[in-house]
Amino acid sequence: MITKDIQEAINKQINAELWSAYLYLSMAMDAESKMYRGVANWFFIQCLEEQDHARIFQNFMNDCGARVILAPIEKVTNEWDSPLEMFQDSLKHEQEVTSMIIELVRLAVKEKDYATLSRLKWFVDEQVEEEKNARKQVADFSRAGDDFGILTSLDAALSTRKYCTPLPLQ
Ligand code: FEO
Repeated sequence: MITKDIQEAINKQINAELWSAYLYLSMAMDAESKMYRGVANWFFIQCLEEQDHARIFQNFMNDCGARVILAPIEKVTNEWDSPLEMFQDSLKHEQEVTSMIIELVRLAVKEKDYATLSRLKWFVDEQVEEEKNARKQVADFSRAGDDFGILTSLDAALSTRKYCTPLPLQ
């Protein structure tokens, strides 16, 4: 059984993951409207992964006999000046999500909740990956500047990204 405080914190995290999905969907739609089809594909897959993250927490809550409570999702931005600005925002966003996961870890340690700690380990590792991926795109698009040729090849490379079901949902 997980405590009331942990249940509330995980429900908050489920909301944050769905908020992340909504943000990335918004980025995908903005990129698509500006013909950055590869960038749109990258963010659309990111959106699917965030829904998976929410689902992993939902499954954990259900497995523990806790109740998932869905709350309204915070408004997101609808337009960015460039793919670089999108990736910079996504890096900032992932850093914020990392802080939330670390807070959850701290709470689970305080409550001696080893089941939640065990579940959170996957998310701690995932956040390292999420920040690394966003940082890579920020670096690539920063170097590209306004060079149309480089931007076009970066966009083409991002169109090859494929969705993979994360391990906890396989
Ligand atoms: Fe659910 Fe992008 O972290």
